[in-house]
Amino acid sequence: MRGTGLGQEIDMGGTLKIGVLVSGSGSNLQAIIDRIEDGTLGAEIACVISNNGTAFALERAKKHGIPSLHLDHRLFSGRSAYDAALLEALREYGVELVVLAGFMRIITPVLIDAFPHAIMNIHPALLPAFPGLHAQQQALDYGVKVTGCTVHFVDVGTDTGPVIIQAAVPVLDSDTEETLSKRIQVEEHRIFPEAVRLFAAGRLTVEGRRVVVASPSTTVSQGFVNPPLPA
Ligand code: GRF
Repeated sequence: MRGTGLGQEIDMGGTLKIGVLVSGSGSNLQAIIDRIEDGTLGAEIACVISNNGTAFALERAKKHGIPSLHLDHRLFSGRSAYDAALLEALREYGVELVVLAGFMRIITPVLIDAFPHAIMNIHPALLPAFPGLHAQQQALDYGVKVTGCTVHFVDVGTDTGPVIIQAAVPVLDSDTEETLSKRIQVEEHRIFPEAVRLFAAGRLTVEGRRVVVASPSTTVSQGFVNPPLPA
């Protein structure tokens, strides 16, 4: 159970179990791990699953003692069969929130219906602009002056689900896909853990296309000390 008090979120004991799906480097996974380890995120990573056995993200998970799993999509007859296997693994680890952190696969209703409004994805553009692959290059090709990144809940479309949080990044005349991607990633690493934190604190509600972010409650649900004890 999670609670809030006097503008400060208070973990009342239960910790949100998240499952992180990855395919590559895992820098977003690392950002979430760092926020969990510094105690600012009321969640624990129950498992990291990669469809790619050589993903560096798996090394990161191991280094932090997080259960990790390589589930090779090529061993399954199709997307639904693969997602059924993912679902089984996520259930085994008691996952409540699924985080797609550079997971380079389209997921199907097998997974989406099993986790209603509980699957998040990070996309390197200000959605609804530039969905799909190579979003940074799309932004450069279009000539926009501002792009960024978006964390959204996943629905059946490609990058179409309700937006949770966004960060804007200026596009510089000198930018290449690589330099722009790097600056966008700095923001990804700030907003993805924040989206998870808001979810873990029970502050996200989906109303149609809109994600409403509740203010921290002022209800006192736990004793507090004033003047405060040292942290
Ligand atoms: C990020 O740029 C993210 O926006 C996209 O895939 C990339 C994953 O990077 N969905 P990493 O594996 O988290 O480093």
